[in-house]
Amino acid sequence: MNFSFASGDASRARADLLIVPLFDNELTDKKKQPKALVSCDKKLRGLILKSAAQEGFKGKVEQSLLIHSHGKVAAGRILLLGLGSRTRFTPEVLRLACGRAIKAANRLRLKSLAFALPVVREEEEALKAVVEGFELGAYRYDRWRTTNKEEKAAARIEKVSLLLPDGVKKDKAQAKAHDPIVELARRVSIATNWARDLVNEPAGTMTPTALAEEAKRMAKEAGLNLQLGDRKKLEELKMGMFIGVTQGSKEEPRLIHLSYVPQDAEHARRPAVALVGKAITFDSGGLSLKTADGMVDMKTDMAGSAAVLGAMSVIAWLKPPFPVHAYMGACENMPSGTAYRPGDVLVSRLGKTVEITNTDAEGRLVLGDILTWANESKPALMVDLATLTGACMVALGNYIVGAFGEDDQAVWSLLEAARGAGEELWRMPVTELQKDALRSEIADMKNSGERWGGAINAAMFLKEFVGETPWVHLDIAGPSQSPKERGYHGKGATGVGVRTLVELVRRRTHELEQTTNG
Ligand code: BES
Ligand code: MN
Ligand code: ZN
Repeated sequence: MNFSFASGDASRARADLLIVPLFDNELTDKKKQPKALVSCDKKLRGLILKSAAQEGFKGKVEQSLLIHSHGKVAAGRILLLGLGSRTRFTPEVLRLACGRAIKAANRLRLKSLAFALPVVREEEEALKAVVEGFELGAYRYDRWRTTNKEEKAAARIEKVSLLLPDGVKKDKAQAKAHDPIVELARRVSIATNWARDLVNEPAGTMTPTALAEEAKRMAKEAGLNLQLGDRKKLEELKMGMFIGVTQGSKEEPRLIHLSYVPQDAEHARRPAVALVGKAITFDSGGLSLKTADGMVDMKTDMAGSAAVLGAMSVIAWLKPPFPVHAYMGACENMPSGTAYRPGDVLVSRLGKTVEITNTDAEGRLVLGDILTWANESKPALMVDLATLTGACMVALGNYIVGAFGEDDQAVWSLLEAARGAGEELWRMPVTELQKDALRSEIADMKNSGERWGGAINAAMFLKEFVGETPWVHLDIAGPSQSPKERGYHGKGATGVGVRTLVELVRRRTHELEQTTNG
């Protein structure tokens, strides 16, 4: 998609579709009507406002109204897009609305859009949300569909003209200042769509080896360092828990380590941010086999690593003044004659021993060894993303990420990054109260405890492997997939986490710049 800026009379904007976003109750208030609406309505002799009244369009969230322009304005059609109440506005509202709008435009097989940017306080965030809403909403996963060839080849929106808001005087230079925001938003969206592709790809093709190849391709393109390790490397590193999980599968496991190191030697010496992603390419449950229903979606169990990979591709471009590392342990969790068994005791890289009480609690085992590994280079902050527990889905549903951690500042930095990025995070406790849940009779701990507080127990298990390092665990089991079409999401992988991680790195960069300048 190609984005450009324009100003002036919206009724003269040449495009297949002109989108005019509207707040609830501002349609009928003469003083509040956006200029784009006023000028188009005038050219159409009041037909827009009349149709809106007749169709009951008020500007509520999820409301929209399509009107043919019959050649009365330069655009072929006008879409009124509801944003809901102005007092409840967040850039995410706009992101969702733009996602819906682009889906409608693509269904109509249109090629070009003009979008009248609304006048809001959060000007830059809103612009970013518009671009992301369009790019994310245009996503489709259709690589395995052989029917509907016409549909696949069908026209898609190629050009988007962003009409600068009225009332705000804009010259060329100011439009130029918006360019970096558009560029960032485009890169974040492309990375998110790539993460969605990785997750949507069936486990039969998105194997640990294939995932490592994707990481390699991206690293090369983005200019990141990459180190891969195979089964032998796992043994060398004594990752007994990771080895336990992978040993039932015929697929070769992969260790993936990506790193971004700043050019500036002083910046390169700064303590790093370490990102860790769960990368179980298929989770059958192992010998503690899942039910048929519980297994259907388990190609999604590498969504944490997909988000980390997506974020790294943008971070490589952002070039923050501190190092960022990404660590992943990719494998399958399968039942077989060589699989690890309930009752086995595994020896972790850290040396702690773990009694296996459920082979379906595999994510924490792999992550435990990977967190140990990541922690050895003494990062300033570790963040892991994992589709870790069904319990977290029971607690927070399909749209909210659980954020676990004891370091208030670290957790806050993620909550704020998520808020800025338009992703939903909710803090969850890591509490000693649950400690007994993982007590083992024969080893240092067991891998799965009682059902109650299952998401907390999983976080408690991970905590054993992070030592004193500030650490936040994001359980994305719910939001990694959308159960339905919603805003800029389709049914399937969401790419959740990419935006939050990128925003985290941006905010750390700003903070560092402020403290070193002041
Ligand atoms: N990958 C699953 C968690 C999951 C469930 C992700 C649904 C996405 C959607 C994880 O490995 C798992 O199986 N967790 C178990 C843990 C239990 C055995 C302690 C769970 O949540 O049931
Ligand atoms: Mn599992
Ligand atoms: Zn799993």
